[in-house]
Amino acid sequence: MNVDLDQLRDEALAQIAAVAEASAIEQLRVDLLGKKGRVTELLKQLGAMPADQRKAFGERVNRVKESLAQALESRASAINDAELDRRLKAETLDVTLPGRGEGVGGLHPVTRTLRRIESIFNSMGFETVEGPEIEDDWHNFQALNIPESHPARAMQDTFYLLNAARLLRTHTSPVQIRTMQARKPPIRIICPGRVYRVDFDRTHSPMFHQVEGLYVAENVGLADLKHDLQKFLSLFFERDAEAMFRPSYFPFVEPGADVHMKWGDRWLELLGCGVIHPNVLNAVGIDPERYSGYAFGMGAERLAMLRYGVDDLRLFFNNDLRFLEQFR
Ligand code: DAH
Repeated sequence: MNVDLDQLRDEALAQIAAVAEASAIEQLRVDLLGKKGRVTELLKQLGAMPADQRKAFGERVNRVKESLAQALESRASAINDAELDRRLKAETLDVTLPGRGEGVGGLHPVTRTLRRIESIFNSMGFETVEGPEIEDDWHNFQALNIPESHPARAMQDTFYLLNAARLLRTHTSPVQIRTMQARKPPIRIICPGRVYRVDFDRTHSPMFHQVEGLYVAENVGLADLKHDLQKFLSLFFERDAEAMFRPSYFPFVEPGADVHMKWGDRWLELLGCGVIHPNVLNAVGIDPERYSGYAFGMGAERLAMLRYGVDDLRLFFNNDLRFLEQFR
């Protein structure tokens, strides 16, 4: 056999040492030890050899084969280690970095105020009812004793939807209409929700929140209204609220009043209210000879401004975190 085994081994070992990639190592393994590999071919020639040389040559080839297999394996694992090292360095996770912290959120001050109003009235026996923000003319105006040409509409200009004869409700009073249509007295509800008007200044926003209240039963009148609102205001402001009822006009009540509250040395207007007009009860099919009731409506932003000492209503809607964070 004129193959120089030692030379073949040394060349192969040099090749193995020079390989840098896992795929190239595998290719080399096939070239050397695979079915048609250089070393395998040598073993195949054993059969053609004279018997006296066969044994010694076979042993040498096997030794070469073993040492190459070992070299291939340790080179492969060195390549793997290097790859792992490289990834560990590139993908480091610095566990000493300080965390970003949890941004703890909070309820919007208007939401907090709405919930506060709601829970006080709930505790006084009023059930919370909600209604649609897109209304029709009848529920928002006509059923509330505000006919088509009524001047009271001028104070509640709103956004009209084209084509649909719909509008964005200007108050939550239509929810009292819907509820009275659907239920029989006694009815005692509050209706919180968004309302819309064409208004924008320091104390008005085109979208704001109201809470409407309604109590209809036999023999409900002005005395109940005064008592219940007085009680609500004392609970809401956590003090003996001094309230004044000043006659006012709302088409859906008779008599009607504005409630003012003593604030320092001033009287502040807080909400509207009154005894439900018989025309309203008739519109929803409740007999005004048998039943009577009161209603009131208040702006949530208004109460929030007073409770938190905010002097510009628009701050509630700018969503400036420096403002909102103060209510967390
Ligand atoms: N709906 C009135 C408004 O938005 C508020 C109001 C006043 C509601 C008197 C009432 C009420 O139920 O009796 O200006």
